[in-house]
Amino acid sequence: MLYGADYNPDQWPEEVWDEDVRLMQEAGVNIVSLGIFAWSRIQPAEDVWDFEWLDRVIGKLHAGGIAVNLATATASPPPWVSATYPETLPADESGASYWPGSRQHFAPSSPTYRRLAGELVSRIAQRYAHHPAVVMWHVGNEFGCHLPMDFSDAARDAYRVWLRARYTTVDALNDAWGTSFWSQRYGAFDEVFPPRLAPYSHNPSSMLDFRRFTSDMLLECYLLEREILVAAGATQPITTNFMGPFKPADYRRWAPHMDVIADDCYPDPANPNRVRDAAFQRDLVRSLKPGVPWLLWEQATDAVNWRPANAGKRPGALMAETAQSIGRGADGIMFFQWRQSRAGSEKFHSAMLPHAGTETRVWDAVTALGARLAALPDLPPPGRDARVALVFDWESWWGVEERDHPTRIDYLALSLEWYGALHRRGLMVDIVAPESVDDGYDLVVAPLLYLLREEGAAALERFVAGGGTLLTGPFSDIVDEHDQFRDGGFLTQLGPALGVRFEDFGAIGGTGAGGTGVGALPTRATQTGGSVTFRLGSGAYPGRLVAERVHATSADVVAEFTDGLTAGGAALTRHRHGDGEAWYVATQPVAEGLEAVVGQVVRASGVSPVVADLPRDVEAARRGDLVTLINHGDTRVDIAIEGTDAETRALVDRVRLDPQGVAFVLVPRTEIPSSASTRGRAVARHPRP
Ligand code: GLA
Repeated sequence: MLYGADYNPDQWPEEVWDEDVRLMQEAGVNIVSLGIFAWSRIQPAEDVWDFEWLDRVIGKLHAGGIAVNLATATASPPPWVSATYPETLPADESGASYWPGSRQHFAPSSPTYRRLAGELVSRIAQRYAHHPAVVMWHVGNEFGCHLPMDFSDAARDAYRVWLRARYTTVDALNDAWGTSFWSQRYGAFDEVFPPRLAPYSHNPSSMLDFRRFTSDMLLECYLLEREILVAAGATQPITTNFMGPFKPADYRRWAPHMDVIADDCYPDPANPNRVRDAAFQRDLVRSLKPGVPWLLWEQATDAVNWRPANAGKRPGALMAETAQSIGRGADGIMFFQWRQSRAGSEKFHSAMLPHAGTETRVWDAVTALGARLAALPDLPPPGRDARVALVFDWESWWGVEERDHPTRIDYLALSLEWYGALHRRGLMVDIVAPESVDDGYDLVVAPLLYLLREEGAAALERFVAGGGTLLTGPFSDIVDEHDQFRDGGFLTQLGPALGVRFEDFGAIGGTGAGGTGVGALPTRATQTGGSVTFRLGSGAYPGRLVAERVHATSADVVAEFTDGLTAGGAALTRHRHGDGEAWYVATQPVAEGLEAVVGQVVRASGVSPVVADLPRDVEAARRGDLVTLINHGDTRVDIAIEGTDAETRALVDRVRLDPQGVAFVLVPRTEIPSSASTRGRAVARHPRP
């Protein structure tokens, strides 16, 4: 288990370094990410290089038995770069420059930035590629985190090149973007600009491409550096740090270029949904490289500095959050940062070694965590532990959040709500693209498939026909990969499997999902300013966003709308297709309604939780033979579970968990008998004893 932090010795006088190494040993640190923001120290002027200090730091770490994840240091260009080469600066929508003085002030597509970054990486690689302390490479840092889009002239030029490569002819681009609308027809690629400030809505197809372009430009920066490292003979794993569900970068396209997935995750102690949201993020990053452990590359020991109010963590939370990562596939636990800064914007950010020193609650927690991690045995790699998948897709996210739609939708917030309904049931869930859905799953939940590519639709249909259970939410199968309607209406691809025909969107009045972030999602329909009701079993539940008018052509109607414009129409349908079944819900159910819908489909699919009958605040995750149990509640609980305590090696038949308590129990994987389903794959493919 890797344990450590970002280490910024360049912020400190050399006298401190020996103490750093000594205290790292005391805390159980075995790796640090070194030099992430050290460009100006390594190359103080264009023709001046200084590696001696870095040689000495690496030497001290190596002598102290601490491995190095060496950064390429390209995330924050020094002042001389911006002053000498202003063309490296990025621009906002209006074309105004972002200026230096912070970090990440570079245009990812700038050829000059890329040349200078390349020279830096090449010098670092040549010097350290074969250094025994260097066990991993950290390229850039959190690509795109502060600059989700760049509209500079460098972006303009690169965008034209990117479009030419994608479309070859300008006619093909005109078709893809539907430019006959509003006189937008292009005569040449050089007439295209990034979507800078315009009087009114930009062409949505062009916005989708600009998002793809932006993700690709950031990825190109990563790849350029990666290639230089490889060319210099580096054989260590190469990666960069992801940020979970980060809208600007389609990490599914990035993941194949990472030797290992590394992720930064900062649950907000004040967010009541923090456990759910963090679990989603960890499941998402695990699912990016199935079967391969990932690394938690940054978390905070206590408060951060960048929210409006920065609450500290409750006692035990560090262990509980760490265990959630391990249980969901992590083999490395790292922090930002080792020693709290004494200057700069992040001086109020917590660290492993607080500014107040070692006689602190944080230091005690950090050393206790290090000791506990060091005692863990080798853990099994994550296997195909999840029988449930939630479909989450960057292109759908980009498309559905464009303006001028029937209603406003916060795609991530909505995905988290659906994920929450599965997480609360204790199910292990993979987060996948529609194309990755296969018969390894029994249940697939697709909350919203606004943009549905042909291959994705085909995979979902195959999954159902082969015996799986699919639950699809509203506003799905609406557009193709160019954000254009398909011929023949909507649900044109999934309609036959769902057994329904789609007539109308039925947006509900009000402000829609609203909110700007995960925590902002209204939980009661009334907050949206409008809702409908649907009746399911003996319950009546509100729906929000839309109450679509759909017709069951061959599906059974399980629930109907009881009010609003679609009163009497189908709200939830169920359809036998091949060996499986496909469900469609024509509104976004709220709270108990979502529980009721998901509950019904889960029961029908026959999937089982990792551990049955857990108390509400106890979370369980499976990773091969390892079951991780975490008590997020405020009272002590006893859980019945038979296995081997992974830490003590003792056989157990129950574990006792204090508030924030954690247990790692080895329970050999067996097929868990299906409770409800008597048909479909849950039974057919996994015969029970
Ligand atoms: C990000 C960055 C770090 C640091 C932390 C602070 O994760 O990668 O450099 O700024 O945020 O939380």
